[in-house]
Amino acid sequence: MIFRAPKGTDDILPPDSRAWRRLLRAWDILAELYGYEWVATPMFESTEVFARGVGEATEVVEKQMYTFEDKAGRLLTLRPENTAGVVRAYIQAGRTGEFKGSYSGPMFRYERPQQGRRRQFWQLGVEYLGTEEVDSDLEVIELGYRFLSEAGLSDVEVHVNSIGDGDDRARYNELLITWLEARRDDLSEDAQRRIQANPMRVLDSKADADVVSEAPTPAEYLSDVTLTHYDLLKSGLRERDITYLEDPRLVRGLDYYNRTVFEYVPQSYQAAQSAVGGGGRYDGLVELLGGTATPGVGLALGFDRILLALGDRPAARALDVFLVIVDPSRRAEAQAFARRLRDSGVRCDLAAGERSVKAQFKAADRGDAAAAVVIGEEWDQGMVKVKDLSSGDERMLAAGDLASWAATSRAGAR
Ligand code: HAM
Repeated sequence: MIFRAPKGTDDILPPDSRAWRRLLRAWDILAELYGYEWVATPMFESTEVFARGVGEATEVVEKQMYTFEDKAGRLLTLRPENTAGVVRAYIQAGRTGEFKGSYSGPMFRYERPQQGRRRQFWQLGVEYLGTEEVDSDLEVIELGYRFLSEAGLSDVEVHVNSIGDGDDRARYNELLITWLEARRDDLSEDAQRRIQANPMRVLDSKADADVVSEAPTPAEYLSDVTLTHYDLLKSGLRERDITYLEDPRLVRGLDYYNRTVFEYVPQSYQAAQSAVGGGGRYDGLVELLGGTATPGVGLALGFDRILLALGDRPAARALDVFLVIVDPSRRAEAQAFARRLRDSGVRCDLAAGERSVKAQFKAADRGDAAAAVVIGEEWDQGMVKVKDLSSGDERMLAAGDLASWAATSRAGAR
């Protein structure tokens, strides 16, 4: 019997896992640079957190949740996204006012698996609670844009829209209901069901794309206040040199949004699932989940999709150096040398036990080292032979200079 990972899930093994680790670290560093502190919430929550937070009439809640009863009969759901969970945690901890949290981790949605659409997938996200200022929308969009560009996606376009709030939203919904009712017979069953409960969800139904392509858009009904917010957002994006596209049909698939919504679309990655991330403002969510009214804005990037969009790039080497010991009598010295190198930040490995030189070179290749460092007779003069394992070039170096040599060649290989 051979077991396989469940459908729509992935094992992430070396060398692929190297790019994952590199980008996850970069995410943590960048989020901290912007003042977001790491938060971790449970991978499952009471189903109600998502049903309420994300919205009963959304595709995610209606069809994609992994929901189960635990042994005590509690209804629980594996998190399909993390905004509702972070907001639940903020309320539970009795926090008020501003809060900037970042996270990364797996999310779960029961979808039809394909490239870029997985049942377990990773998101990188931030949530900025406690301010309505457009500066916070801009900061969040800039952070995601900068991450993607530093990761290597230099042609990302941010699709933006404002879906209004309060009265303008109510006015728009009313009009949309009338418009959709007039075309009821042309709509899918799901869409027909949603017309009254949640008309905006009909707009992002893929099955009804043709019919709704002519529907009125939210931006046409914005109040002056919302319009000003949207205008400030767009001028802020221009100031920051962020490439954006106004997309009046962008409504996003989750119910908690108001005003700003956005998605990141790399121009060179035209797949069925082309958005590598998205987010928006959700000023009503804290209240909806039982807290005091607190505005918020956030984003999540789809990690699996970012890696797909980056394509096959040569993975960085796993190790800077692998020590090859010619004379077994120098093993203890070589092990001490390895400890010193690691102390200086050199990624270094060596074989366990006594092995032939040939076997050690093989191990250096298997360990994907950039160079083999031969500890031979020259060791007594404080020298080592360094062999570049890509080019085969050899050179002699003072053992004391190896750490700075490794740092320079690592930077050069980047
Ligand atoms: P979302 O658009 O549902 O938003 O997901 C964000 C990103 O996660 C998507 O753009 C996509 O790249 C990735 N993603 C979603 N589903 C899958 C899947 N099945 N397989 C692979 N990748 C996927 C949210 O989740 C919101 N919580 C974002 C947010 C944070 N809004 C405010 N704060």
